[in-house]
Amino acid sequence: MSNQPTNLAKIELPGIRNVLAVASGKGGVGKSTVSANLAMALALQGAKVGLMDADIYGPSIPLMFGVNEPIDQAITALPLDRHGIKLMSMGFLVPPSKAVIWRGPMIHRALTQFLTQIPWGDLDYLVIDLPPGTGDAQLTLTQTVPLTAAIVVTTPQEVSLIDARKGLQMFEEVRVPVLGIIENMSFFQGDDGKRYEPFGSGGGQRLATQAGVPFLGQIPIHQQVAQSGDAGLPIVASDPESQSSKAFQELAGRVRKDLASFQNPIKLPTLDL
Ligand SMILES: Nc1ncnc2c1ncn2[C@@H]1O[C@H](COP(=O)(O)OP(=O)(O)OP(=O)(O)O)[C@@H](O)[C@H]1O
Ligand SMILES: [Mg+2]
Repeated sequence: MSNQPTNLAKIELPGIRNVLAVASGKGGVGKSTVSANLAMALALQGAKVGLMDADIYGPSIPLMFGVNEPIDQAITALPLDRHGIKLMSMGFLVPPSKAVIWRGPMIHRALTQFLTQIPWGDLDYLVIDLPPGTGDAQLTLTQTVPLTAAIVVTTPQEVSLIDARKGLQMFEEVRVPVLGIIENMSFFQGDDGKRYEPFGSGGGQRLATQAGVPFLGQIPIHQQVAQSGDAGLPIVASDPESQSSKAFQELAGRVRKDLASFQNPIKLPTLDL
């Protein structure tokens, strides 16, 4: 199969003002954690937010929002509402233990249905947690969904940076603007008060500089980030004063500002020559 973009028809999403993809080339770098906390932080800042889990094979959003088994659609309407966020995930339909073995076109159809048949209503932001990788599934998705912009998650490690670069190239190919790179698992503060950087230092910033995209900041490693994710309430809501929560809140503020400038591009003064 070719990795070249084709002319797929874009889905129309009236009522959703901004669609933001959270992506990375590499798995396990924290896309779902960033998506969940960014969505939560945007909601806490007063926005109407939806979060769509586009990871059909390994959905994480149900666990991160405390939905531990498929829902009964006869009783509970989709999208689910948790902590004021509208949520949709394959994990609401299929038990997490049953890996979904689907081919590309079926995944495409499922995601299209998530977008078009779920009554999202009026949203300021729809955050989309993309599956890892930059293969056909991701490419199709980025071409079908009317993405306003994307952010790319990386860790400071070289293996992660290489794949993040591929993620950036993918968005360039499909002409989706990248708001910038967010570096996750950047450092932790030891009991001795010192800063430790187990995955290296400055990788996200370097990649951003090389790629000519903004660097959106660093999210520290914190046990509670993982624990809160597993417990069904993202850390920005469970412990808003933590260093990690503050980093996610800052990221949300930056995303809002940058997306607003897309809607109202700065008008250059006309020169009277
Ligand atoms: N800043 C952090 N501090 C501590 N743990 C973290 C942090 N970010 C993510 N984690 C943990 O790392 C693991 C991987 O994170 P996550 O599931 O968000 O990654 P992902 O990129 O979505 O993975 P996948 O590619 O499988 O979808 C999870 O257990 C999560 O709780
Ligand atoms: Mg994930």
